[in-house]
Amino acid sequence: MADHTLRVAVIGASGYTGGEVIRLLLEHPGVELAFLSAERSAGVPVGVVHPWLRNHPAVAKLKFRPLAELRDVDVAFSCLPTGALPQRLPLVADRAGRVLNLAGDFRLRDPKEVERHYPKTAQHPPSEEFSYFVPELSGSLPEGRFVSLPGCMAVATLYGLYPLFAGNLASDRVIVDAKTGSTGGGRGGSEPPAERAGNFRVHKLHGHRHTPEIHQALGEFTGASMDLQFSTHSLDVPRGILVTAYSRLREGVESLDVKRAYAKAYVGKPFVRVRPAPKAPQDFPMLKAVVGSNVAEVAVSVKDGECVTVAALDNLIKGAAGQAIQAMNLLSGFDEALGLPRTAVSP
Ligand SMILES: NC(=O)c1ccc[n+]([C@@H]2O[C@H](COP(=O)([O-])OP(=O)(O)OC[C@H]3O[C@@H](n4cnc5c(N)ncnc54)[C@H](OP(=O)(O)O)[C@@H]3O)[C@@H](O)[C@H]2O)c1
Repeated sequence: MADHTLRVAVIGASGYTGGEVIRLLLEHPGVELAFLSAERSAGVPVGVVHPWLRNHPAVAKLKFRPLAELRDVDVAFSCLPTGALPQRLPLVADRAGRVLNLAGDFRLRDPKEVERHYPKTAQHPPSEEFSYFVPELSGSLPEGRFVSLPGCMAVATLYGLYPLFAGNLASDRVIVDAKTGSTGGGRGGSEPPAERAGNFRVHKLHGHRHTPEIHQALGEFTGASMDLQFSTHSLDVPRGILVTAYSRLREGVESLDVKRAYAKAYVGKPFVRVRPAPKAPQDFPMLKAVVGSNVAEVAVSVKDGECVTVAALDNLIKGAAGQAIQAMNLLSGFDEALGLPRTAVSP
């Protein structure tokens, strides 16, 4: 139950993450969905753009509106494509008590990396600093009213690697292979569905913009730096990310040290689950155990000093909408888990 109600806006609500924020907030007892923006879909009923939402009784009354019509809200979720919020931020900041940004715009601090990966952000610096917030790893709540949520593949990687580097258990070189479903590219994604179907291919082998984010966040959360090779692949599934990370343990580190570190890192964290003693393939994190839920699964396997970490999550929920709602819950004094699903949807 919630003891107060927040007036909430979803900006860019006609896209995939925006639709998912709406879907989850329709069942959240502490939220009134006060405003939903879209540009091309302005004036269109929500149930037309997101048919999977049309049978909720509250959806019949909801339409998308242009952002200029935004009036005062407690919280705004920005689900715009990366690069679209910076120039709209003055308007949003004026009318929202808190801004939770799901896009990459303001995650990076190094100006050279911002210029390289987020050139539109560099042209429109924010009036107040954005805090980068990962509920399980940040250690404390952000102080300001602007919050950046992590990238979906970055955060899956962070959940997988955090215990290793917090405990100084692995040497610096880490190779990460991330596989992602098609909704990761958004509704405006350019790949024809027929070319994705039945295929499994490289997405980006070098220079992905989540690489500097992983370096920055792991450094902030653990004090460690690493020599990271981060490559991504495109899966033929609508949702889900599975990340495999390969490293070598430091001299003298035993398998038991690693298992203890993983168990300890996520004690009391409802949405990161470490798979205990995985042996068979189905014991490891997998998409069918997380898709539809706000849970990230993590497992680690050690043999002869080689360490392989696996993490899986739903990119639209734990990688985006659910993560942002979890942040809102923590920042607003609600129970962390309020309105968030813990079980997956399968088969
Ligand atoms: N998809 C994921 O798995 C995922 C995970 C984590 C973070 N994110 C981040 O979340 C953000 C949204 O992703 P998404 O997958 O929801 O994208 P999306 O499906 O493409 O939706 C984008 C939304 O923004 C609106 N929009 C598009 N272009 C715009 C523009 N130039 N100016 C203003 N509004 C515009 C669209 O509305 P109209 O078309 O109606 O105008 C739509 O509502 C991105 O920054 C992405 O990096 C995505």
